[in-house]
Amino acid sequence: MIYLDNAATSFPKPVEVYTEVLRCMENYAANPGRSSHDMAVEASSKIIETRQELSEFFNIPNLLNIIFTCNATEALNIGIKGILKPGDHVISSVIEHNSVLRPLNYLSEKGITFTLLPVDKNGYLDNNKLKKEIRKNTKAIIINHTSNVLGTIQDIGAIGKIAKEAGIIFMVDASQSAGVIPIDVVRENIDLLAFPGHKGLYGPQGTGGLYIGEDLNLDSFRQGGTGSESFSMKQPDFLPDRFESGTLNTPGIAGLCAGILFIKKVGVENIRKHESMLVEYLVKELCKLSYIKIYGGTDYKNRGSVLSLNIDNIDVSKVGELLNIRGIAVRTGFHCAPLIHEVIGTKTKGTVRISLGYFNKLDDIEKLLSALKDIHEKRGL
Ligand code: ALA
Repeated sequence: MIYLDNAATSFPKPVEVYTEVLRCMENYAANPGRSSHDMAVEASSKIIETRQELSEFFNIPNLLNIIFTCNATEALNIGIKGILKPGDHVISSVIEHNSVLRPLNYLSEKGITFTLLPVDKNGYLDNNKLKKEIRKNTKAIIINHTSNVLGTIQDIGAIGKIAKEAGIIFMVDASQSAGVIPIDVVRENIDLLAFPGHKGLYGPQGTGGLYIGEDLNLDSFRQGGTGSESFSMKQPDFLPDRFESGTLNTPGIAGLCAGILFIKKVGVENIRKHESMLVEYLVKELCKLSYIKIYGGTDYKNRGSVLSLNIDNIDVSKVGELLNIRGIAVRTGFHCAPLIHEVIGTKTKGTVRISLGYFNKLDDIEKLLSALKDIHEKRGL
């Protein structure tokens, strides 16, 4: 199978990831932070090592400010619901994923108001419009770094500066950018960074995390055993324990650690360079095919590794099925980001999404192009 669905979850993972997950399962998958026997200590050490690697990766000053979650959605929910209180206003955008839109909609029934900024047809925000939407009670700005539909990369450095100057919390959804595009929480003034472990960071599914800025006092998300202050019925108020009740996903986190070490070895800039080369080739070749409609413009420079298209008027799920028959895996439909489809005119049909990863080769793109040509020639048969 030629796997072009890396925005959903990356595949394959570096071999080091499989090896470490197995090594953990076979040797040290005890409960971290609970017992003091050698296996539990090794599990704890691996958790700390992963926090350390993540903190270096995102330039997070204190590794204890990273909490592990089961995916980016959980991280976004912890952050969004932890900071917003009745009476607060929040600014986000129409290009967000449902993992932001749905929590905001849920909170709107609890006295929180939100503004969704428009984007242009290529998915870009207008920062002047953003500034104009800031109100006295605006508590946070929540922005998707890279769109999972169009691949649009927002200028989080500029938005972080606006947020900082206005004294507003800046939360970034790095679901499609973590591990693909360098992120520096200090340089970009990020207060909350939600990231999946299983996409660009090459960890297993069931991993993710949230960076919580030093000055933030988030409500705890769930309460329970942490292995610390066990005699107290009160949830510990220090990080990461405040948010890490229950047994952590040690094998998953061990795999995530191996994924980050792989990225460190290759270099995130080199990963970006390789994926950009593939995207550039894909865009240029698709532009030669008159029956292909590319969404989000044909600029390949300021684009992540995601591209949405339509072919003739063939139903997107049919295209997905026909590509699958030809051994190519893509995602079709609305990609859990409903509002952007109103902007790009795909509200009724959705798109065919190609999402690339470091392990894709030019030959994969060639095969995709041949398959698309074939589907067009056969008129979707
Ligand atoms: N959010 C993931 C995607 O875009 C699952 O496919």
